[in-house]
Amino acid sequence: MGRRAIHLADGEATRAWGRAVAAHVRAGDLIVLTGELGAGKTTFTRGLGEGLGVRGAVTSPTFVIARRHPAGDRGIDLLHVDAYRLHGPSEIEDLDLDLVGAVTVVEWGAGRVDHLADNRLEITLVTADAGREAIVTGHGARWDGAAVEALLPPGHEGTVS
Ligand SMILES: Nc1ncnc2c1ncn2[C@@H]1O[C@H](COP(=O)(O)OP(=O)(O)OP(=O)(O)O)[C@@H](O)[C@H]1O
Ligand SMILES: [Mg+2]
Repeated sequence: MGRRAIHLADGEATRAWGRAVAAHVRAGDLIVLTGELGAGKTTFTRGLGEGLGVRGAVTSPTFVIARRHPAGDRGIDLLHVDAYRLHGPSEIEDLDLDLVGAVTVVEWGAGRVDHLADNRLEITLVTADAGREAIVTGHGARWDGAAVEALLPPGHEGTVS
């Protein structure tokens, strides 16, 4: 299990990091985003979608719980889920999410989608001064220390454990 912390100075840094992470993801990956209201979860997902080159702008899905953005040149869809209004794993099951062929990003996913995949990347965004700290934790063989390390901005330091 890899675990690292990254400082994101402003919204553009969060978005740019999402774009960078896109270079390291594969179809079938699950990313679970945690953080308070306004922590930057959608901002990160927007950058990820840009990096993947998927179609359709990534927005806050106020009325839509899950939105699938069709793949661009990378051939990987983005499945963007907002689990805020869902209560527990059973309501997630009802969505019948198809993780195949997509990178799946779930806002408010902790405790709701953890059972969907043994391999998952957890990102927790917390307020730090004016910006944010992203705590990145990898679970399963897919997200070993090296795979998590690859997500860090070049020259980044800030190991948590
Ligand atoms: N690293 C950062 N530093 C400062 N502001 C940031 C940072 N990242 C994102 N923001 C800003 O925080 C605001 C809220 O971002 P966003 O909508 O992505 O949050 P969210 O976690 O998706 O919120 P919600 O819980 O409502 O879904 C935006 O104005 C965004 O620009
Ligand atoms: Mg959001």
